[in-house]
Amino acid sequence: MIIRKSPREIEAMKKPNALVAEMHRQIRPMMKPGMTTWEIEEFVKKFAKENGAETSTVGYKGYKYATCAAVNDCIAHGFPSKEPLKSGDLVTIDTVLDVGGWKGDSAWTYAIGELSPTAEKLMRVTKECLDLAIEQAVIGNRLGDIGHAIQSHAEGNGFSVVRDLVAHGIGRAIHEEPSFQHLGTPGRGPRLKEGMVFTIEPMINEGTYEMYVEDDGWTARTKDGKLSCQFEHTIAITKDGPLVLTQQ
Ligand code: MF3
Ligand code: CO
Repeated sequence: MIIRKSPREIEAMKKPNALVAEMHRQIRPMMKPGMTTWEIEEFVKKFAKENGAETSTVGYKGYKYATCAAVNDCIAHGFPSKEPLKSGDLVTIDTVLDVGGWKGDSAWTYAIGELSPTAEKLMRVTKECLDLAIEQAVIGNRLGDIGHAIQSHAEGNGFSVVRDLVAHGIGRAIHEEPSFQHLGTPGRGPRLKEGMVFTIEPMINEGTYEMYVEDDGWTARTKDGKLSCQFEHTIAITKDGPLVLTQQ
């Protein structure tokens, strides 16, 4: 069942989501060669504490950290690491915060130093996929319209869309219905209604969409070792159009 949120509930969801956005604003200048994702993890834990938020991924299905850190061929759910980042790395930081029982979720990819032209293009196209998808998030459209916007733009630029990890409803729980792939056919799938709140989080790959999960049970990587990129917002469907709750 898709839980629709009342205007008051959406109001309450603004807090954790705005905090995740603020966290991303603050880590942006830290994402430089020599930095480690372990230091980002430490910063995020401190940031959450100082702002009265809980870090929702700690203890979630056995996950141990407040952030997921996905470097280069890592698609998602990478563990924070003490390995220094280097120029040319493409790093996604994904965090879920909770304030008052409500969740906010946003992942953002950062360029470390100078990127290759391919990495640069992948990053641009992935962000465009998210923006085009959000434009489709209006009452009366369907989830297939969102998926199609992402798939057509990614594939039209020679990239691929990860199939095995999905977008999700969010509210009191990190993962609610609906869960949906970032692919689709226009006019298909559940209709978007006022009060729905979900993430849109396209993971776009330079090469194949195929992935594998490491023996740690979490770290998802591209099968061909090529780059992956991701941008994620939490949005609410409102009468006035899509409300991007994690807008930075
Ligand atoms: N942001 C992640 C998501 O989109 C939250 C779960 S990460 C996990 O699903 F590692 F804790 F699972
Ligand atoms: Co998410």
